[in-house]
Amino acid sequence: MADNEGVTPPRRATCHYEYMIPTLLDKAQKNPNLTLLDVGCGSGSITIELARLVPGGQVTGLDISGAILESAKVHAERQGISNITFMKGDVHHLPFPDGSFDIVCTHQAVAHFHDHTKAIKELIRVTKKGGAICLREGDLTTGKFSPGYELLDECFQTIIKVHEGQGGTSDAGRGLRRWVQDAGVLEERITATKSLWIYDTPEGRREYGGHWPARCTQGIFAERAVEMDVSRERLEEYAVAWKKWIEDPEASFSMVHGEVIAVV
Ligand SMILES: C[S@@+](CC[C@H](N)C(=O)[O-])C[C@H]1O[C@@H](n2cnc3c(N)ncnc32)[C@H](O)[C@@H]1O
Repeated sequence: MADNEGVTPPRRATCHYEYMIPTLLDKAQKNPNLTLLDVGCGSGSITIELARLVPGGQVTGLDISGAILESAKVHAERQGISNITFMKGDVHHLPFPDGSFDIVCTHQAVAHFHDHTKAIKELIRVTKKGGAICLREGDLTTGKFSPGYELLDECFQTIIKVHEGQGGTSDAGRGLRRWVQDAGVLEERITATKSLWIYDTPEGRREYGGHWPARCTQGIFAERAVEMDVSRERLEEYAVAWKKWIEDPEASFSMVHGEVIAVV
């Protein structure tokens, strides 16, 4: 039995990498010292959980933002995770030789890449022959608040417009399969699935919504929204609606995600 056999994902409001666990554990069983790269790792919460699943493996988290990597390093150190390295880099020019990793994954980052095909070609280039790339992205236009939170639905439309205004793609989940094919992977090597984000518990609503009241009233999102003619008063109403939604025991948010695993 491999060290990591039978490992279950941590209890979180929603697990963002469940679709890739069988692939990861299968590869770890064959090679306990596998190498994994998480591109656009952000604050590293997923990267750290993946590193925990493969204690014998070596995990690298890469992000274009140096500031966020500093907090990722602190999180990993505080949690005593030693098989992880964080480094700064741009997905369009990855700083690794060809065939460096057994698995290359990315979560909710492709939606931010300005050239999807070039970025995915880079993911493929740094993956070993026979290795896998694993991608998961949300389809923002399927996001839905319940029950009847029209103000938050409106706020979410603003979130989408701000994301698009910064060059982001709204429905990256449904684009994944095509972009992976455009990057040269044959259809028969691609497994595409869908899953649902659901935040419907007190912890989940706090995890998802907790930072939005502040973001609606100050910082980059609020500034961009004002530039898009959303009034400060409306943003205050969004902030109040987020707080109400977080405390509402009946409330939930759901969004469809697209997932692709491709053997390269
Ligand atoms: C929405 S966050 C996702 C973070 C993390 N993967 C998660 O799901 O929690 C997107 C991340 O992609 C990073 N990113 C955007 N463009 C990038 C690029 N060209 N190369 C590498 N990372 C990039 C951003 O800095 C940000 O941390």
